[in-house]
Amino acid sequence: MNEQTRIAPNNLEAFWMPFSANRQFKQAPRMFVAARDMHYTTSDGRQVLDGTAGLWCVNAGHCRPKITEAIQRQAAELDYAPAFQMGHPKAFELASRLTTIAPDGLDHVFFTNSGSESVETALKIALAYHRAKGDGARFRLIGRERGYHGVNFGGISVGGIVGNRKMFGTLLTGVDHMRHTHDPERNGYSRGETEHGVELAEDLVRIATLHDPSTIAAVIVEPVAGSTGVLPPPKGYLKRLREICDQHGILLIFDEVITGYGRMGTAFAADYFGVTPDIMITAKGLTNGVIPMGAVFASAKIHDAFMSGPEHLIEFAHGYTYSGNPIAAAAGLATLETYLEEGLFERAKALEPVWADAIHSLKGTRHVTDIRTIGLIGAIELEPMKGEPTKRAFSAFVKAFEEGLLIRTTGDIIALSPPLMVSEDQIGEIVDTLKGILAGLE
Ligand SMILES: Cc1ncc(COP(=O)(O)O)c(C=O)c1O
Repeated sequence: MNEQTRIAPNNLEAFWMPFSANRQFKQAPRMFVAARDMHYTTSDGRQVLDGTAGLWCVNAGHCRPKITEAIQRQAAELDYAPAFQMGHPKAFELASRLTTIAPDGLDHVFFTNSGSESVETALKIALAYHRAKGDGARFRLIGRERGYHGVNFGGISVGGIVGNRKMFGTLLTGVDHMRHTHDPERNGYSRGETEHGVELAEDLVRIATLHDPSTIAAVIVEPVAGSTGVLPPPKGYLKRLREICDQHGILLIFDEVITGYGRMGTAFAADYFGVTPDIMITAKGLTNGVIPMGAVFASAKIHDAFMSGPEHLIEFAHGYTYSGNPIAAAAGLATLETYLEEGLFERAKALEPVWADAIHSLKGTRHVTDIRTIGLIGAIELEPMKGEPTKRAFSAFVKAFEEGLLIRTTGDIIALSPPLMVSEDQIGEIVDTLKGILAGLE
């Protein structure tokens, strides 16, 4: 660490931090100043093991040389190219490469800058697709309770996390929600898909019947709900959603912002569950979290529906100044190469049972009421403190940071998702640290 990185800012007021307890943070700041592989370095020089791949995004580990060098090279060669009506080779190359790891049939890629923008893009593609086909009566979007689809208006409308919706008025109209799939009574301490709950997919039939299926444009779900506290789907549930959608001409959208790029031990959760959506939303691991970028995959059927009319006209009135940005594209290509050269998706697959055994060994630890694992994701649900929900998990988060472990909490649930390069020893370290912390928590 050089002298520059040691310098702490002397005024924390101006930065209004996202999704953070600003006042608490500013009283006792937690600052990272460097990172390498599985560890962060704090401003006071401590090493912190990354149990969350940053924010579920640094799947290849930190400051990986190939990615860093690709970004440096690209910044010096072509810094920016206009995204509209102009192109540069790397965006095309990245899109082509991505289709080689995507589920069969998802042949087209639209670039964005984040998960939230990818969600908006997917919803707009779905609505515009039906209209392009002359089926503009399909305007409804169906989400699910407890779903997280980013923070923009479309995303919070189809999303189902009350705290993220309640402050923001009427949201999108024409939206409805299926029931969530969380059922700890029947599915407690689950590994992989849960045993019970396939019948919850029939909630889509109920909603489709209520509104008439011919008014529904798309259904959007996370294959594994992440931000709400890790809810794996019941066995057969996603397949059943696919069947219902096919039966009624409804598009199925998977939000794979967390589950994409190896998190499940497969390239995408669609591969893990053997269910292919019509539109797939990704971001985060696409560039290893290093440069903001998202990618929305669409089937040829959807893409081709737009490709009509006079050829000089824009087919889809949507896009961002930074769609396919050269530096992001270079980062994406280098990230993909790193994943493939190092076999990181296969590594995650091989680790899945080791990971599950380790996390489930916390059963019986003080405060723990449920544990769920799938892929390289884990959730440890805690009994909330009386009258003070979220406080116990937040205390665990702060304590873990002090003891050299980064975890993430949502409500009273601890969520874990280490970089895919995590070693078995480091998995042991995560579990041992948590065991000690939970035992000592009020
Ligand atoms: C499933 C899902 N969708 C969308 C998003 C939003 O991504 P971003 O924060 O990059 O906008 C997230 C972020 O965690 C997510 O988990």
